[in-house]
Amino acid sequence: MPGRPALFIPGPTNMPDAVRRAMDVALEDHRSPDFPAFTLGLFQDLKKVFKTRNGQAFIFPASGTGGWEAAITNTLSPGDKVLAARIGQFSHLWIDLCQRHGLDVDAVDVEWGEGTPVERFAEKLAADTKRQIKAVLVCHNETATGVTSDVAAVRKAMDAVGHPALLYVDGVSSVASIDFRMDEWDVDLAVAGSQKGFMLPPRLALVAASPKALEAARTPKCARCFFDFADMTRTNKDGYFPYTPATTLLRGLRASLDLLLAEGLENVFDRHHRLAEGVRKAVAAWELKLCAKQPRWYSDTVSAIRVPDGFDANEVVKIAYHRYGLSLGVGLSKVAGKVFRIGHLGDLNELMVLTALAGSEMALRDAGIPLALGSGVAAAQEHFRQTAHALDVARAA
Ligand SMILES: Cc1ncc(COP(=O)(O)O)c(C=O)c1O
Repeated sequence: MPGRPALFIPGPTNMPDAVRRAMDVALEDHRSPDFPAFTLGLFQDLKKVFKTRNGQAFIFPASGTGGWEAAITNTLSPGDKVLAARIGQFSHLWIDLCQRHGLDVDAVDVEWGEGTPVERFAEKLAADTKRQIKAVLVCHNETATGVTSDVAAVRKAMDAVGHPALLYVDGVSSVASIDFRMDEWDVDLAVAGSQKGFMLPPRLALVAASPKALEAARTPKCARCFFDFADMTRTNKDGYFPYTPATTLLRGLRASLDLLLAEGLENVFDRHHRLAEGVRKAVAAWELKLCAKQPRWYSDTVSAIRVPDGFDANEVVKIAYHRYGLSLGVGLSKVAGKVFRIGHLGDLNELMVLTALAGSEMALRDAGIPLALGSGVAAAQEHFRQTAHALDVARAA
């Protein structure tokens, strides 16, 4: 198909040219004397994106799943009790990973479309008078359902009963796109991935650990080697790695951090919110419903959109891909065939979002779902017009 394919899955996301160019380099010597001058700044700037001064940033050549594993295996021992909620496929997979490491997970099930059940967590934490719960897991942004959970509220619930468990946050589809505050929310372990808000190819697991988490990592925990914090710390402090790092991706990470920090994190979050609102206006105009059940859970990085009963969301995704070169996310697991997803994160602007909406409308109509062509696009256009920054065109001219 001529032209660029339209990539609107919720990661990997569209890669800025500056990031792509930064990675178009000859391979380099990762033990050279001047390598640390490059790498040490990465750790510092990564901490800014996690919003942590006190924590330590780790860069593993792995996917987000590796980040989960690093967080868990460095700080927990087999048999430790973990409190988590299964709010969608990714929180389910994180729970599964914990169970495979021999952890005793109390997994609270909620209907998919809801966020982390803070009240139920609060009850369980209060009831845990023997302080057996060692870890509380929150999937900040559940990519399968387009649901954002309230991390600060979970921290508040923990503090309300003085619970000493560590707080773990999956920020794979939130960090660098949605407001995330590691220090302010007193998060102990935060996990992100390169292929979402960082606008990089997959295969960097970005992890941040609080001083309390690093302390917990001192005593023997689950078996680990590749993901060992201690090996990383020993070598990272001088700008090196315990094994061959993904040097090309690190060059891309430099460009990504430069872009994010130049735009300003708050502006990045505002942009994501505004673009997400445009998508939500379109969904309303199509008279469809989001999987997310309440506005407080609406995600600014991904919208999972329900198709009416009797229709197959996979068909919409297939048509979009084959007829229009548009990649949308399929529904996963419990919501397979019921939702399709529009990823609206990363290097994105209004006109790109309108492309995704135009292609989605055509695919929805082709799949037999009744809606007026142009209705969603028009609703989003109106939103973008009304919320456009007042540009002094005259002065610019
Ligand atoms: C919220 C969330 N957590 C974890 C993961 C797993 O990341 P990866 O596929 O990079 O291992 C994903 C992947 O999409 C995700 O969306």
